[in-house]
Amino acid sequence: MKVYKFFSYNFKIFKKGEKLFSIEHRGLNYGDGVYETLRVYDGRIFAFKEHMERLKKSLDVVKINFSLNERKIENEIANLLKLNRVKNCAVRIVITRGNGLGLPPPKGKPDISIMLVDIDKKIEEYQKRGIKAILIENPRLYDFSTRGAKTINFLPNVLGSIEFEKNGAQEGIFVTKEGFIAEGTTSNVFFVKDEILKTPSLEIGILAGITRKFILDIAQEQKIPFEEGFYKKEDLLSADEVFISSTTREIVPVIQIDDKKIGDRRAGSLTLSLLSAFKKKVLS
Ligand code: PDD
Repeated sequence: MKVYKFFSYNFKIFKKGEKLFSIEHRGLNYGDGVYETLRVYDGRIFAFKEHMERLKKSLDVVKINFSLNERKIENEIANLLKLNRVKNCAVRIVITRGNGLGLPPPKGKPDISIMLVDIDKKIEEYQKRGIKAILIENPRLYDFSTRGAKTINFLPNVLGSIEFEKNGAQEGIFVTKEGFIAEGTTSNVFFVKDEILKTPSLEIGILAGITRKFILDIAQEQKIPFEEGFYKKEDLLSADEVFISSTTREIVPVIQIDDKKIGDRRAGSLTLSLLSAFKKKVLS
């Protein structure tokens, strides 16, 4: 993944390589912060409002007192797009509790970083051909203290990604200790069984994906029957179609999970039709 040369720190422009943080930074020492990943299509930020709402919620959950100036953030992203001469990319916004060691945290000043990140060229290929995923059982604390927040405490996800890579896969799907399908390391999970679209309930403690929400909206608009629920791995492994969703990958078919082939090991028809509807939405 490449971060573009110019980025913003506390609304000042820096060049990659310039020193920013103190050794006492709480992001470095405690992973004490939250983040968002947004997508820019043809120079336009997709679902900006939805991402700002989730960011506000994340700040609230982890009690970081930062007043979000949405206009300022939007302008800064536009500024970065111009400086880096890029029109299609992801945007990563990270807000941390700032500097200062110690628990409880000293009264510090939260900081905000905004950077542009390139989109993996392989995604288009994955969207057409599908990917392999593995199941990762009982990996992540779906706990209540950071529920609903997109935090930079990402170690279970990082470890999951090391595991799926080792297995020649492109995503890992977490299964909770109660045996429920949860989400991918950086995605939400959907499957289709007997023409019903199914996705794990937010009550499991998964991230309320913005792409997930758009997909459910499309299903509603197109009168595709869908449900959110508590599913076991047998449900997923016996599905007719499986796919993952995220801001950067949009919709990517899953054609194999562990050693089990899904459908006929090709992208499913409902998956491809939802992908095409989603692509229309992002450009409209
Ligand atoms: N990740 N679940 C997890 C754990 C995620 O990290 C993500 C997104 C999602 C999908 O959410 P959305 O549709 O809002 O992108 C679900 C982003 C892309 C990231 O980590 O950069």
